[in-house]
Amino acid sequence: MPNIQDKVVIITGASSGIGEATAKELASKGAKLVLAARRKDRLQKLQEEIQNNGGRAIYKVTDVASNEQMEELADYALKEFGKIDVMVNNAGVMPLSPVYEKKIKEWDTMIDVNIKGVLYGIAAVLPSMRERKEGHIINVSSIAGHLVFPASSVYSGTKFAVRAITEGLRIEEFINNIRTTIISPGAIATELIEAISGSELRSAIDEAMKIAIEPASIARAIAFAIEQPSDVAINEMIIRPTVQVL
Ligand SMILES: NC(=O)c1ccc[n+]([C@@H]2O[C@H](COP(=O)([O-])OP(=O)(O)OC[C@H]3O[C@@H](n4cnc5c(N)ncnc54)[C@H](OP(=O)(O)O)[C@@H]3O)[C@@H](O)[C@H]2O)c1
Repeated sequence: MPNIQDKVVIITGASSGIGEATAKELASKGAKLVLAARRKDRLQKLQEEIQNNGGRAIYKVTDVASNEQMEELADYALKEFGKIDVMVNNAGVMPLSPVYEKKIKEWDTMIDVNIKGVLYGIAAVLPSMRERKEGHIINVSSIAGHLVFPASSVYSGTKFAVRAITEGLRIEEFINNIRTTIISPGAIATELIEAISGSELRSAIDEAMKIAIEPASIARAIAFAIEQPSDVAINEMIIRPTVQVL
């Protein structure tokens, strides 16, 4: 689609799952990608794969929980490609647990990555987008950003926050022609559940994830939001497996 061709797109959490699938989808449609995550080997492999298929991608090892590194990521995109059209704040972690277990380190990581990481991503790209009066910020929330489940209190808290922040951004920045999109996936087959430290809960989630669909399903939804004409904003999408109830 012409609306993806040559767009400069930063994707956080590009080293696996939804981020990796989104990178492949957008590369096949002609985007210029800036891939970010912490695992260098995975980013390098993905860059090579995209380039071997005729796509364009660069990468930068980045921890989204560091504001400084997120600013460096945006600076790198501007230096290499001259503009940032789309920011996909996708990086996230989901170490689910009930509150009484008091896994404070896991709470802190979820808050740092899922909330602060998204805020730092927005802050890093907003100045150049406001200057150009053009841009698109896509934040990955979750079904858990609409509903709360046992053991999802903190994770849901972070994903509700992503939706609140994105809606706030929309009403602050539409005037600058900046589009926002909230993506709320249901069960998607990725590495996300590997961070669940409780073995019983992990088995229950493994069972629930048997209906999970491929990350490419979310990649196509993200591409759909990006490829709309610039006067059309797809503000929110929920994408579940057809057979997922909640
Ligand atoms: N899978 C699902 O069922 C599902 C459902 C709803 C929402 N989501 C959301 O979808 C997003 C993508 O998750 P996924 O399912 O694709 O899981 P995934 O395969 O585990 O991918 C998570 C990505 O986030 C990156 N990441 C984690 N911590 C980071 C940090 N501090 N700095 C930079 N990158 C970091 C990881 O890369 P590194 O480890 O290399 O840094 C990885 O690329 C998340 O926001 C998740 O909450 C997923």
